[in-house]
Amino acid sequence: MIIAIDGPSAAGKSTTAIALSRELQFLYIDTGAMYRAYTLKALRMKLPLEDEDVISNLSRDIEIKLINKSNGITVLLDDEDVSQEIRRDYVSKTVSIVSSYRNVREKMVELQRKLASEHDVICEGRDIGTVVFPNADLKIFMTADVKERARRRQKDLEKLNIIKELDEIENDLNRRDQLDSSRKISPLKRADNAVLIDTTFMTFKEQVNFIKELILAKNEGKF
Ligand code: DC
Repeated sequence: MIIAIDGPSAAGKSTTAIALSRELQFLYIDTGAMYRAYTLKALRMKLPLEDEDVISNLSRDIEIKLINKSNGITVLLDDEDVSQEIRRDYVSKTVSIVSSYRNVREKMVELQRKLASEHDVICEGRDIGTVVFPNADLKIFMTADVKERARRRQKDLEKLNIIKELDEIENDLNRRDQLDSSRKISPLKRADNAVLIDTTFMTFKEQVNFIKELILAKNEGKF
């Protein structure tokens, strides 16, 4: 079974997908983490991010692995654990450039499809229901008011000891969503048959239960 969850940044996709994958014993695929790891490698090598050819060529020489653990996922870049590093601001601010390149996306999508060919998966990102798995069993488009998303992101950053003003976070989210929605290849977009969930006024538990009921109903052939 393939469950696709898409939506803008900080809408609660990852935390919800992690909780669901644990409850249902599905593999969790965090596709944003893959684009972040790719970006991190390019930054470390001091490659010019604006040069599509240079950044694309890196796809031949990069190994990204996602390891599901009981408390989330570990992201390995060329066998190094970069799970924390990829969440830092300098990666968040540049990942939209790297993820807009066709060859980069092709490489990541290949990896995502391979994982889903071997497991039941909950796959989360921006183009999962539209491009990666257009025949997913269930598609969710998760969103929330940008101010609420900024507040949630601020809390996540605090856990990493990163203190950032709410206004700055909101501006960054708006900028990233704008870039991700307006790019030519696989933009952030709700698939026609995706269930829209606005989580602005939902508790975390409500989000998880709502989607879980949809998955169970789907599994029983109820819709
Ligand atoms: O979900 P996230 O914030 O970790 O994603 C980081 C960036 O990666 C996001 O700004 C856009 C890009 N991304 C993408 O282009 N396609 C996906 N399927 C997932 C993420």
